[in-house]
Amino acid sequence: MGVTGGIAAYKSLDVLRMLQRHGHGVSVVMTHTAERFVGSASFAALSQREVGTSMFGDADQPGYHHLDVNEGKDLMLIAPASANTIAQMASGFASNLLTSCYLAFRGPVVVAPAMNTSMWLHPATSRNIETLRADGVHLVEPESGLLADGAVGPGRLAEPSSIVAALEAVLGASQARNDLAGVKVLISAGGTREPIDAVRYVGNRSSGRMGWALAAAARDRGAEVVMVQANVDLPREGGIRYIDAPTAAAMRDACRAEFPSCDMLIMCAAVADYRPVAAADGKLDKSKADALTVEMERTTDILAELAALRDDQVLIGFAAEHGPEGLERARGKRTRKAVDMVVHNDAATEGAAFEGPDNVVTIIGPGESEAALPRMSKRECAERILDAACPLVDARPVRA
Ligand code: C5P
Repeated sequence: MGVTGGIAAYKSLDVLRMLQRHGHGVSVVMTHTAERFVGSASFAALSQREVGTSMFGDADQPGYHHLDVNEGKDLMLIAPASANTIAQMASGFASNLLTSCYLAFRGPVVVAPAMNTSMWLHPATSRNIETLRADGVHLVEPESGLLADGAVGPGRLAEPSSIVAALEAVLGASQARNDLAGVKVLISAGGTREPIDAVRYVGNRSSGRMGWALAAAARDRGAEVVMVQANVDLPREGGIRYIDAPTAAAMRDACRAEFPSCDMLIMCAAVADYRPVAAADGKLDKSKADALTVEMERTTDILAELAALRDDQVLIGFAAEHGPEGLERARGKRTRKAVDMVVHNDAATEGAAFEGPDNVVTIIGPGESEAALPRMSKRECAERILDAACPLVDARPVRA
């Protein structure tokens, strides 16, 4: 995401957060003028990635790696795009990091202009916009309204939701593979909460982002997606059927009901391994005792149970492990639970597993294959998991 100088630069923080909520990983490049409106530290904190501001390294960033940021990116967004940056892009100047990245970028580019009405209506800007369109750039038209300088007219940055929708339409079209057309995928996401009493529970830190990214990726490949979700507080998307299952027991019931008609199950949810044997009626009263002992019992392992019931479904589990022996434990889980693939993530690795926009995983299987992937966005990670799983769907015998 490129950010250029203009009052609207603060709105790109909202665009960034919305993109992350949708499962995209974002690296930010700013012009020096943009930095006068919003500090790079804000973007670095939200994106959890280094922010590019200069073509030349400083003391902490030796060398001349200015185009590295383009590596592995699916799309370039520039929001807000100033009249000056648009003019530079139209003319092919590479005078700062952002315009250099633009010139070197091979994927789709989305530009959301924002400027004063007179600048937007100037024939030079109109000419430059037409040049960008002819070069294949996707424009998110500015809106009309009251601008920062008090004038009323076109030039206001489009709403973050419009920018994200336009970007996803472009991304969907560029990534359309349709390799899951006609395939029903059941995905579990989130973390279950097991009640202790009427108001308290035993839970975990799963945000549901990885499952959300998998659901969007499977949908965009043409799959029919059913999402069994536990306590996920993320916006729901079109084209996905959601079933609420807040506890391990509810998740087991929902998964058992949906599983027979599915072609693929991805158990991404952090399902509680233990639950209180019985939830107390009402709210436990702390004045009654100084210590509290809650007896816990094992929950049913949903994935292992469904593996035993499988017809020809492709089965994928997750293993969030902690520490160096985790990968070996994850390999063991694949065999023990009799599933095709296990996605291992080390909860001790920075940027991996819970809550954040990125993940660092090793995909174990199918067969003898094992792929240790570098840190990437959860959406990219989802695509890699589906890339590995698609051949298994195709290899199944045709159902009667
Ligand atoms: O054994 P472990 O809990 O680490 O295995 C994780 C995998 O098993 C995940 O795919 C998780 O969704 C699934 N699981 C399950 N039922 C449980 C616990 C975990 O399906 N009760």
